[in-house]
Amino acid sequence: MKLMECQTYEELSQKAAKITADTITQKPGAVLGLATGGTPEGTYRELIRLHQTENLSFQNVTTVNLDEYAGLSSDDPNSYHFYMNHRFFQHIDSQPSRHFIPNGNADDLEAECGRYEQLIECLGGTDIQLLGIGRNGHIGFNEPGTPFKSRTHIVTLNEQTRRANARYFSSIDSVPKKALTMGIQTILSSKRILLLISGESKAAAVKKLLVGDISEDFPASALHLHSDVTVLIDREAAALRS
Ligand code: F6R
Repeated sequence: MKLMECQTYEELSQKAAKITADTITQKPGAVLGLATGGTPEGTYRELIRLHQTENLSFQNVTTVNLDEYAGLSSDDPNSYHFYMNHRFFQHIDSQPSRHFIPNGNADDLEAECGRYEQLIECLGGTDIQLLGIGRNGHIGFNEPGTPFKSRTHIVTLNEQTRRANARYFSSIDSVPKKALTMGIQTILSSKRILLLISGESKAAAVKKLLVGDISEDFPASALHLHSDVTVLIDREAAALRS
């Protein structure tokens, strides 16, 4: 696990965007595994800037997102479909037919998980997977206790995660209780993993990731089992690291 410490969130976002852009430059048809949430927003802004001012093209890129809430349609402003379209896809030259996000509104959610897993396999896996981390160590929506062997599956979100995500909804009651997520094994099948961690609220998770045990109680610890993981942290997130 390679740790890159940044002074600020802006620096972290620029570095993450540069690593992603380099992946595309080396392989224009790269498969990018993407994340949502607050942390990667700066990375998407920087990638958009590189597209607009430095000719970075996403034309041949395929994207697969980590997760989606169950029961929200793709035009629901709180869905991850909406997030990706508005914060990223609308501003670049990628092809909508090559954007993949689990369908949280599918009639048969189990079948949708199987379809999504197969899709990722057919694409040959992701070349790089962007990740954020929850305060409890979740990656994707894989909450503590999720088997490391898990593939794309349906999860029941825990209260801490629903509370953390309630900031995007009108109230905690409107936060869905279930979601679809790539499993931990699916994430580990990416060729390269880029974990972004920003802010004081994640400092304890950083410490646990760096010095704690590898355990299903702390999902992000599974990343120690992968040979090409880069962790980008800003100064606040590094606060408890000694
Ligand atoms: C998002 C995702 C989640 C977030 C995590 C951190 O697609 O899978 O694991 O990365 O909840 O969220 P933020 O960045 O909002 O703190």
